[in-house]
Amino acid sequence: MSVAQIQPQVTITTVSPTTMSTPAAPAAPFYDKGLANTVAADTQMSFIDGGKGVLEYVGIDIDTLARNSTYEETVYLLWNRKLPTKAELDALKSALQAEYEIPDAIYDMIKSFPKDAVPMHALRTLVSALALHDKDAESSETNPAGIERAKRQSLRLVAKTPTLIANFDRHRSGKAFVRPDKSMDIATNFLWMLNGEKPTDAMAKGLDICLILHADHGLNASTFAARVTIATLSDMYSAMTTAVGTLKGPLHGGANEEVMIMLDEIGSIEKVDDYVKGKLERKELIMGFGHRVYKAYDPRATYLKTFAKQIATDTGNLRLFEMSQRIEGIVLAAKADKGIFPNVDFYSATTYHCLGIKTDLFTCMFALSRMSGWCGHCIEQLMDNRLIRPQAKYNGPHAATYAPMAQR
Ligand code: ACO
Repeated sequence: MSVAQIQPQVTITTVSPTTMSTPAAPAAPFYDKGLANTVAADTQMSFIDGGKGVLEYVGIDIDTLARNSTYEETVYLLWNRKLPTKAELDALKSALQAEYEIPDAIYDMIKSFPKDAVPMHALRTLVSALALHDKDAESSETNPAGIERAKRQSLRLVAKTPTLIANFDRHRSGKAFVRPDKSMDIATNFLWMLNGEKPTDAMAKGLDICLILHADHGLNASTFAARVTIATLSDMYSAMTTAVGTLKGPLHGGANEEVMIMLDEIGSIEKVDDYVKGKLERKELIMGFGHRVYKAYDPRATYLKTFAKQIATDTGNLRLFEMSQRIEGIVLAAKADKGIFPNVDFYSATTYHCLGIKTDLFTCMFALSRMSGWCGHCIEQLMDNRLIRPQAKYNGPHAATYAPMAQR
C-alpha cells in the first residue's frame, strides 16, 4: 500500500466576505482543572457516548469491529476513515510486514538493558531510539510532503513496536531473540516472537481482538500528549515517545496489570466474596471497574468477556474467568446504580494472561495497540495544525522584592 492512501479528510469551511468582521476580543480564559470540560481537538476517528456505553471507530460500533474485523483492517479504517477493499487491506498488510524488522543496533541496545528494567521504561527508550536509525525521521511539516513523511514514520512505528516489546521480553527472560516473520499478521507475529512458537488460531484471534479494542479512544491523556508534541512540528518518534511515557502512569494504562495482581492475590473463587466485599466496605477501589467517561457497561468489555471465557476454557484457566465473573456480580450489585461497571481492562487481564503474556507486559500491550490511534491523531493534528499552548492560572505574588543573598 502506498502511504499516500492513508488520507485523513479535511473539512474546509468557507467564510463569505460579507459575513467577515473584525475579530472579537478573545473570551476571558477560565480554569478547567484536568481539562475535563475542554474540547481540544477535532477527530474523525473515535466517538464515545459514555452515558449510553457507545464507542464507534469512524461510525462503526466497536463490538461489531471486535467480532468481525482484524487489527490491520481497523488501522486502515482509523487512518483512512473508510473500510478497505481487499486490495487496499493487502497493500497495508504488506507495507506493515516490510517494516516489522528492527535494526541490529536496536537488538544490541536491548541486550544492554538491565534484565529487571520496567518494560514501559524499555519500550519508551526503544521507541525513541528507532529515530536514530531512520534517515526519514525529520521534523514534521504541514505541507503534503511533510504529512506523507509522518505517515511513513507511523507505518514504521506500528510495525516495529511488537518486535521491540517481544524481544525485550525475550532478553530479560534470558532467551535468544526471535526475528519477526513477515508472512504473519501483527497479532500472530507478536506471539510468535514472544513465545518462540506459532500461536494457535484462537490465541492469535484473542490478541487481535484486544488490539482492535484498545486502538483508539478519543482524546485520552496519552493521545492528547502525542498531539501536543506533534503540534510543535516535532517528529512522530518524539510524539510516540511522549505518548508511551504518558500511558505508563497508573491512572492511565496500568490498570489491567492491577486487575491481574488482584486475581493472583485472591487466589481462589472461595475467597472472592470476602476479598471484594471487604474492599468495598473499606471504600477501596476494585481495579478494572469504573471509567471517567463510561457510566454504563464499557462497550469494549462486552465481547471481551465472552472471548475471555472461551480462551480461559481452552487454556485451562477457567478458574480465572469464574473468579472475574464472581467479582463482577458483587461489584455490580453494590455499585451499578453509581455507574460502576467493568471496563476494558477487567477482562483483558484474563485474556492476556491466557495468551501467556506476563503481567508486567500488559501496559506495553496497550501501547502496541494504541500506537495506531496515537499516529492517526498526530496526522489529524498536522492536517489542521495549531500549536497547543494553554495558559496557567498564576497564584503567586506580584511586585515581590529581590532580596540580596545576605538578607535571605
Ligand atoms: N471500585 C469501587 N468503587 C469505585 C470504583 C471502583 N473501581 N470506581 C469508582 N468507584 C466509586 C467511587 O469511589 C465513587 O464512590 P462515592 O460516590 O461513594 O465516593 C463513585 O464510584 C464514583 O466514582 P468517581 O470517583 O466519580 O469515578 P471517576 O470518574 O473519578 O474515576 C476511575 C474513574 C479513575 C477509572 C475509577 O473508576 C477507578 O479508579 N477505577 C479503577 C481503576 C481502573 O480500572 N482504571 C481503568 C480505567 S479504563 C482505562 O483506562 C483503559
